[in-house]
Amino acid sequence: MEREMIVILDFGGQYKQLIARRVRACRVYCEIRPCTTSMEELRALSPKGVILTGGPGSVYEPDAPTCDPALFSLGAPILGICYGAQLMAHLLGGQVESAQTSEYGHTQLLIDGPDSALFRGTPGDTACWMSHRDRISALPAGFRITAHTPACPVAAMEDSVRRLYALQFHPEVRHTPEGDDMLRRFVRDVCGCGESWVMESYIEEQVEAIRARVGEGRVLLALSGGVDSSVAAALLSRAIGQQLICVFVDHGLLRKGEADRVKEVFGPGGSFDLTFRPVDARDRFFKALQGVTDPEQKRRIIGEQFIRTFEAEAKNLGNVSYLAQGTIYPDVVESGTGGAGAVIKSHHNVGGLPKELSFTGLVEPLRSLFKDEVRDLGRKLGLPESIVCRQPFPGPGLGVRIVGEVTEDKVRIVQEADAIFQEELARFGVDTGSGQFFAALSNLRSVGVMGDGRTYDYAVVLRAVRTEDFMTAAAARLPYELLDVCMNRIINEVSGVNRVLYDLTSKPPATIELE
Ligand code: XMP
Repeated sequence: MEREMIVILDFGGQYKQLIARRVRACRVYCEIRPCTTSMEELRALSPKGVILTGGPGSVYEPDAPTCDPALFSLGAPILGICYGAQLMAHLLGGQVESAQTSEYGHTQLLIDGPDSALFRGTPGDTACWMSHRDRISALPAGFRITAHTPACPVAAMEDSVRRLYALQFHPEVRHTPEGDDMLRRFVRDVCGCGESWVMESYIEEQVEAIRARVGEGRVLLALSGGVDSSVAAALLSRAIGQQLICVFVDHGLLRKGEADRVKEVFGPGGSFDLTFRPVDARDRFFKALQGVTDPEQKRRIIGEQFIRTFEAEAKNLGNVSYLAQGTIYPDVVESGTGGAGAVIKSHHNVGGLPKELSFTGLVEPLRSLFKDEVRDLGRKLGLPESIVCRQPFPGPGLGVRIVGEVTEDKVRIVQEADAIFQEELARFGVDTGSGQFFAALSNLRSVGVMGDGRTYDYAVVLRAVRTEDFMTAAAARLPYELLDVCMNRIINEVSGVNRVLYDLTSKPPATIELE
């Protein structure tokens, strides 16, 4: 069955992923494509509707990103947002000019077209999020104004006959309280999309696609126990069972009890039909890290050792045709859609897996999913909540939560302290959903007294941040009682620690991890 799809054309706007998530939340599938996508490619996708994103350019500048004007006679409904709205006006014979002052932030929105398909049910006087300097100063033929703000005469316009809609403001951000409904009306009422994007059908589709792709071949997956690789394992296992080989490298830098949990879920007697290959590489990693204090060098060593361990395992296995990875949609989008969108983040985990190993191909069954969809999928595949809702954990593990040299004893300290912190966070009912909460070990040793004796021990650092995107973060305001209990328990229960500190720093200037 052909799935209904909305195409989001990317003009470089920072909110393109948000638009996509909002559309998906309406249970409608969508994909972000560069604005340079040709009409031929677009037609082949046969979208039920097209959304043009915002972008930093000015439509009247010579190098401004643009699209083929034929787009507007494609027949599918089109919604232009911000720059996308201006481009629609510009290409259809209207006018766009630079306003005297820019309009930025929370703005009153007054609806002039309550009968507009986008605004049916929207209060006549509401709010929207604006972020623009240019504005539409003359409408193209056939359009009418459907909303304005005190400073912007054309906050929304439309030609309902050709099904072309334009919003100067951003319906996709939370600050536009009616924005979700406007987008929903566009995809449902204007484009006529049903609720075809549901995880159950995604599972069926992917299972078939994976089977067709790999045939009798064997597929190798590096399973870390993190959300993405775990969900990828569960999905692949559903499709190809024992043909899937999951290599789980225990590098000794995992959280307390983590290796056991991964083995319980994925190992023999667990919930999934697959070939599970645990590798105990703890000694190898600790040896390689001996005496190394520089954080970048530690990262490099851990990465290298991981690849070598994985490589050796793959060679032992022999005859593996495919490599599977838990790449998700933000990874794909952030590495650039190839259009006007700047590469915002080329972050961690770059480098990837061994290039010397030759595989027939790469299998990435989560490539089109957002994180919340990956979690949803994991639940539907029977993964426990403890895995589906895991906090992000860096690839180099506790190696980047120990300042200075990494030793087995320091790892023990962080593991114990972190386990206490997690227990108390749960007991105090702290919502850890949008952030990261962990213990780290500073390299600070200082004098203390315990009983009648003098100590010279380490300081554990508790780090808790709230963040939406992990690019910026603020320290969480945890209850003092919680911090107090953690301090007491860590001092009493974890040997080698005589101080507990709480890190108040935001990112920037600090980072989230402490290394
Ligand atoms: P920082 O410390 O850079 O972290 O503010 C931002 C986010 O990235 C995670 N992180 C990593 N994740 N491999 C990963 O998969 C890594 O090497 C790595 N380093 C940091 C960090 O936990 C936070 O969520």
